[in-house]
Amino acid sequence: MGQDGIVDSAEVNRLNWDERAPAHAASPDYRVERFVQDPAFLSYVVQFDVPRLGDIAGLRGVHLQCHIGTDTISLARLGAHMTGLDFSPAALTEARRIAKLAGAEVDFIQADVYDAVSVLGPSGFDLVYTGVGALCWLPDIRRWAQTVSGLLRPGGRLFIREGHPMLWSLDEERGDQLLVVGYPYFETPEPDVFEDEGTYVETDAVFTHTATHTWNHGLGEIIGALIETGMELVSFEEHRSVPWEALPGNMICDERGEWRMTIRPERIPLTYTLQARKSG
Ligand SMILES: C[S@@+](CC[C@H](N)C(=O)[O-])C[C@H]1O[C@@H](n2cnc3c(N)ncnc32)[C@H](O)[C@@H]1O
Repeated sequence: MGQDGIVDSAEVNRLNWDERAPAHAASPDYRVERFVQDPAFLSYVVQFDVPRLGDIAGLRGVHLQCHIGTDTISLARLGAHMTGLDFSPAALTEARRIAKLAGAEVDFIQADVYDAVSVLGPSGFDLVYTGVGALCWLPDIRRWAQTVSGLLRPGGRLFIREGHPMLWSLDEERGDQLLVVGYPYFETPEPDVFEDEGTYVETDAVFTHTATHTWNHGLGEIIGALIETGMELVSFEEHRSVPWEALPGNMICDERGEWRMTIRPERIPLTYTLQARKSG
């Protein structure tokens, strides 16, 4: 809480991420050892993306909310000149350490997403990449879309695979097979506030910063915000899998880390991939 008694959501979230980043880097789930041992290894998230990404060799790419950089390094291994941006200094310490161990050349920059254009400069990138679990930390999807458009050169491309807003709206603690909407689907002025002593990877770490402030954004709001900035939708696909156990007790994991509903997976999309191009 600030001196004026106002809670700063970004600060609450940054404290949460700063504490979790070292535990994530140490967890087997992020497979840091594989990156170090095998110079061709790609994160399972980016392996999923590869058929949709196409050839990105030589592109100037920026990965927004890059966390500990494993996806950023994977994109660099596909030949892109990558910059990773995140507001968590602890996450970037891990990202720089892992990149060095993995022999990858990536620039990691500490900044809030909304400051990305002023920090990195306008229109300097061919590719903006955003991975799973990013948009829910941002209060205003239109400001995010303006940031993406501001970073791209005319003709440049946004690639995002993200948790589906319908998934984010579900009550994940029911313990039965019913899909029950417990949280907002649309963007709200105030965040949803959660308390969670754990994290989404296997770890014995004990955390003291347990609060998070998150927002959902409906598909229409996301796509509409991009179109409003002058971007054109290139492709949009909904998936029946998600790369973390989003609905505990109701999912089964495959050998590539993708989780699917065990019963009637046709009921709901769990993630989506969206690509959009800045008009040139
Ligand atoms: C779930 S992680 C991203 C996960 C990533 N796909 C991965 O598995 O490596 C979310 C990241 O967003 C970052 N983040 C949250 N809010 C941010 C903001 N306003 N500006 C920049 N980074 C932010 C956090 O520090 C965290 O590293």
